[in-house]
Amino acid sequence: MKSIHDAVDHKLFSEEDIDEMTTRLGKQLTKDYAGKRVLVVGALKGAIFFMVDLLKKMDLPCDIDFIDVSSYGNGTESSGKITVTHDLEADVTGRDVLIVEDIVDTGLTLKFMKDEMIKRGAKSVKCCVLLNKTARRTTEVEVEYYGTHVGNEFVIGYGMDFAGLYRNLPYVGVIKPQVVEEFSKKHENDN
Ligand code: PRP
Ligand code: MN
Ligand code: MG
Repeated sequence: MKSIHDAVDHKLFSEEDIDEMTTRLGKQLTKDYAGKRVLVVGALKGAIFFMVDLLKKMDLPCDIDFIDVSSYGNGTESSGKITVTHDLEADVTGRDVLIVEDIVDTGLTLKFMKDEMIKRGAKSVKCCVLLNKTARRTTEVEVEYYGTHVGNEFVIGYGMDFAGLYRNLPYVGVIKPQVVEEFSKKHENDN
């Protein structure tokens, strides 16, 4: 396979679709956070593409920072265990924190980050996510802002990976089953 686009079974959201979503969300956030200096926290690594585009649509004074909490192994299933692998530089005490995520699946990652920000003394904690995959939610967590719902398919692109790859596809697509099968075959003797 030469092109990363060959891993895509079909496109779900085009660059234009994504632009519409970031524009709408950016406008809403600009209204809702008017008069505030927001601390925008991107969840590495998946959120970075969405975070950059969203920030450009937010007409607000913003600080930006990053946190990496990992819950997934190499495959498509969540391990359920969450650890902070790269922490924020910022002190969130008394801050209005907006967590940015590419996707909410089981909800474990987002719930962990929200709880953590509250524990650290944030004044308010909300989130803005591109894709809301409600079908697989196992943890109750409020998703204040989201671009769109997505079904129970494994999506790649625009930050989202399969085994670390395909984040740099400029659109969101569904992965070809063959790509997943080939990966599983190669790694069936791991562990
Ligand atoms: C993915 C995705 C979300 C999280 C959603 O991140 O970017 O952060 O999983 O899953 P959940 O709702 O079931 O917790 P991942 O842990 O794969 O790390 P990455 O962003 O570096 O790809
Ligand atoms: Mn992530
Ligand atoms: Mg991932």
